[in-house]
Amino acid sequence: MTAVPRDLDDFLRTHDARIRDELFDLLRIPSVSARSEHDADTACAAEWIATSLRSAGLGCVVHQTAGHPIVVGEYRGAPAGAPTVLVYGHYDVQPAEPLELWTSPAFEPTLRDGRIYARGSVDDKGQLFLHIKAIEAHLAVRGTLPVNVIVLAEGEEEVGSEHLAQFIESHADLLRCDAVVISDSAMFAPGLPSVLSSLRGLAYLQIDVQGPAQDLHSGSYGGAVVNPAMALARILATMHDADGRIAIAGFYDDVRDWPPHVREQMRTLPFDVEHFRAETGAPALRGESGYSVLEQLWTRPTCEVNGLLSGYTGEGAKTVLPAKAMAKVSFRLVPDQDPARVERLVREHVARVAPTGVSATVTALHGGRPWRAELTGPLFDAARRALAAAFGREPVITGEGGSIPVVGDFERILGAPVLLVGFGLPGENAHAPDEWMSLENFTVGMRAIACLWDELGKKS
Ligand code: BES
Ligand code: MN
Ligand code: MN
Repeated sequence: MTAVPRDLDDFLRTHDARIRDELFDLLRIPSVSARSEHDADTACAAEWIATSLRSAGLGCVVHQTAGHPIVVGEYRGAPAGAPTVLVYGHYDVQPAEPLELWTSPAFEPTLRDGRIYARGSVDDKGQLFLHIKAIEAHLAVRGTLPVNVIVLAEGEEEVGSEHLAQFIESHADLLRCDAVVISDSAMFAPGLPSVLSSLRGLAYLQIDVQGPAQDLHSGSYGGAVVNPAMALARILATMHDADGRIAIAGFYDDVRDWPPHVREQMRTLPFDVEHFRAETGAPALRGESGYSVLEQLWTRPTCEVNGLLSGYTGEGAKTVLPAKAMAKVSFRLVPDQDPARVERLVREHVARVAPTGVSATVTALHGGRPWRAELTGPLFDAARRALAAAFGREPVITGEGGSIPVVGDFERILGAPVLLVGFGLPGENAHAPDEWMSLENFTVGMRAIACLWDELGKKS
């Protein structure tokens, strides 16, 4: 097993405090893409990334879009014949609310117990930044990189990457590459470097149920007028059957079974169901019958209510028959489900099951395709060697229940294989209060990526 090259390791060690200070500066910018009041902050984070890329030695352009900017940094000085690698990450973050549940403020990064607490620490600013610093280390120490590098940082990942696929299409020549590398996921366990073999897709919908023209007295009208909140509850209750399967006609038509060797490999991962349950705080687990928890999370589609709104929810009681009800409903998808087809099936299903006396409409908010890869070839061999050098052990192959919609677009538009190598950890509170990134994973991850450039540059 090779080790992290001494020169790169020395550089990163010498500059450890400065690198951490810089990361903390980035984490102080509240680049919440979902909130227009943070548009200036989000733009500021884009400029910050651009400045950081330039000072690492890359050429960099901030591309304006109809939404948040896309930052592209480039290094084209590798030896002739060297591969070109595209690094993707996102500088936008989820809203930090509820703020009162944070131990230290969301945008005041704080180091406690070896963890960097801040919104975006692990998702994804910390992981994007470690790539920039791995590049900087090469250029600072050796004046050159063994591979050409393109860094693509977007600011709309947390709101569905609306403008990214179009940008990749229209800049396909600029972004042409031999491999895509993404760190926006987690390791399976501390000390266990992980390469992702799958992501679920997503179809995110809103269901609106309209009843009477306005709220009504629930005594004067209740019993004769259909209640939209009850109607919506009925609609939602039809989504699953008693075995936890999704009861929408045609929903499973395109679901592919996982290859036996991948399921077999999954069973060798150190996973403790009770520990997983305890971490969630839920009194018990229950999912689709016939599948293990990891299979439920990684290999099976789901339907979840993400938000519900109707009627009176303030202090005390109010006897009202609400005029309307709304639910945000998202479906996680697995290969080869197509978000547009799922949306159509749900629309048909809702039309079929909606009670008379209300009108129900389904609106699509965003979607993304599922992804799965056979991890073979020089890119994955290089990743194995780099992770082994930095972490002192071979990586495991894992799956993921979350979604990064652009991964499928990269493959489709650029025709390049994608390597998903994340440095988060279970329990990192992504999207929740007290999000953190392990400082050790940040440090070792940075070295692993610095090694990866060397490994990818070696003639195979
Ligand atoms: N980094 C996550 C994706 C992810 C989640 C990777 C969990 C590994 C574990 C990404 O920022 C994210 O949150 N994606 C959204 C998708 C979206 C379209 C808003 C998700 O999965 O909900
Ligand atoms: Mn992310
Ligand atoms: Mn996220």
